[in-house]
Amino acid sequence: QPCSDLHGKHFAITAGPTRESLDPVRYLTNHSSGKMGFALAAAAQRAGAEVTLIAGPVSLPTPPGVKRIDVVDARQMQEAAERAADLCDVFIAAAAVADFRPERIAQEKIKKTDDSNRDTLALVKNPDIVAAIAARCERRPFTVGFAAETEKVLEHAKGKLARKNLDMIIANDVSEADSGFNSERNRVTVIDQTGGTELPSSLKTELAEQLIQMIATQAFAQ
Ligand code: C5P
Repeated sequence: QPCSDLHGKHFAITAGPTRESLDPVRYLTNHSSGKMGFALAAAAQRAGAEVTLIAGPVSLPTPPGVKRIDVVDARQMQEAAERAADLCDVFIAAAAVADFRPERIAQEKIKKTDDSNRDTLALVKNPDIVAAIAARCERRPFTVGFAAETEKVLEHAKGKLARKNLDMIIANDVSEADSGFNSERNRVTVIDQTGGTELPSSLKTELAEQLIQMIATQAFAQ
């Protein structure tokens, strides 16, 4: 049973991967399943919050009582996130946004050429959705990021907390077996300005309840 009542509070949460088109039949993406973000949305809703879930392409059911906005690529996710951030108290970026997108989307299927065994792909950087929201002067929600790392987890997560001006970052080692991407379980360390709290390995659904409580305590502390 959730201990803090989030009635009257509005959470916006991004979840899942983004999909960046190359041409009408191909795209770049990653292994994010969306499970952690969807579990957070469900937990915040159960605790009484109004929840807007901005979801990349995933195959997960919408948690009951949650408003879901489906997007495909990073720029669409940013547009939806900026709009939701105008109205929310807490913004949680659980999405695995593609860092880069193809510089241009070909109108027709890109053809192989017979004369070369090599090709190169021009990429441009996607906007950093959570950093833009955390950089706001007005209407800045309590802003939480995730750091999925494969090495030097705490060091990289602390760097991101500072660089992106986040209030909290949730770090996890995605190289560990049975944790992170696509797994039902996760083992994370919650980091804020005051330090870090390591949480034991748990089901994402249970971890989500705990994280929502920790976020609420920080966000709505008197
Ligand atoms: O990809 P990176 O490790 O920088 O992601 C850290 C945090 O930033 C995550 O919370 C992720 O959702 C967010 N992010 C974002 N927009 C991006 C890249 C990352 O919101 N373009």
